[in-house]
Amino acid sequence: MTIADKEQPKGAPDVPLHVAIVMDGNGRWAKRRGLPRQVGHPKGVDAIRRVVEAAPDQGIRWLTLYAFSTENWRRPAGEVAEVMRLLKLYVNSDLDKLVREGVKVRILGRREGLPPDVAEIVERAERQTAHNDKFFLQVAFNYGGRADIVDAARAVAVEVAAGRIAPEDITDAFFEDRLSTGGLPSPDLVIRTSGEQRLSNFLLWESAYSEFVFPDVLWPDFTPHHLAEGIAEFQKRERRYGGAVADDVLATG
Ligand code: IPE
Ligand code: IPE
Ligand code: MG
Repeated sequence: MTIADKEQPKGAPDVPLHVAIVMDGNGRWAKRRGLPRQVGHPKGVDAIRRVVEAAPDQGIRWLTLYAFSTENWRRPAGEVAEVMRLLKLYVNSDLDKLVREGVKVRILGRREGLPPDVAEIVERAERQTAHNDKFFLQVAFNYGGRADIVDAARAVAVEVAAGRIAPEDITDAFFEDRLSTGGLPSPDLVIRTSGEQRLSNFLLWESAYSEFVFPDVLWPDFTPHHLAEGIAEFQKRERRYGGAVADDVLATG
């Protein structure tokens, strides 16, 4: 099985194959120490490294990390600049290792609006890992779920206007393929750290039937142990997708 296969293999252990994380709490981590908010972000990058390293060993095949939202431009310019700097630093320092370890990288989100040097490094990360297939790392950067749906709708509208497809051809699957996450299955598990319990415009379409966990830990303190706890919690859930539970169907006829 490669990362391109969309279905969970039969008889596979009940591990969430696609985990998505809203990495929240960097600012509070710093504030609690009496430090400026942006000091939390490099600590957040350390947590990213730990999780990317541990995820394949925990049975995860696809990992999607929310790093910068379309709304995060509202932050002070110095903090935004720090996040941009850290993305570049992360790619520059870790790309060779990701290439070696078979990690395929995809950056979700709008390229327009990114500073040219950031856009360039994002493209390099994708290009150099394009042929990898051991593990898939998606980083949502300048990403918003609504913007992503709007962009997909525009792409579909162009195809209709050009006469290549008819409105009736637009199905769930057709539309889903045009989202920036196209080609990957939806996340089984969404984790948001820091205690906040909201999506904040992350994977709006894709998380329709995801399970959610909200560990009470700030992102810079997140370890592989917290990831394992999230997976254990996921394994207690029962996913129904709107259907009925098999036992109940038998009981009620
Ligand atoms: C998440 O941590 C990182 C980014 C959004 C870039 P925050 O910076 O949102 O941390 P809090 O929520 O202010 O603590
Ligand atoms: C969501 O967190 C974005 C990322 C973690 C990258 P925010 O901290 O921006 O979300 P709100 O403002 O608390 O909803
Ligand atoms: Mg936050």
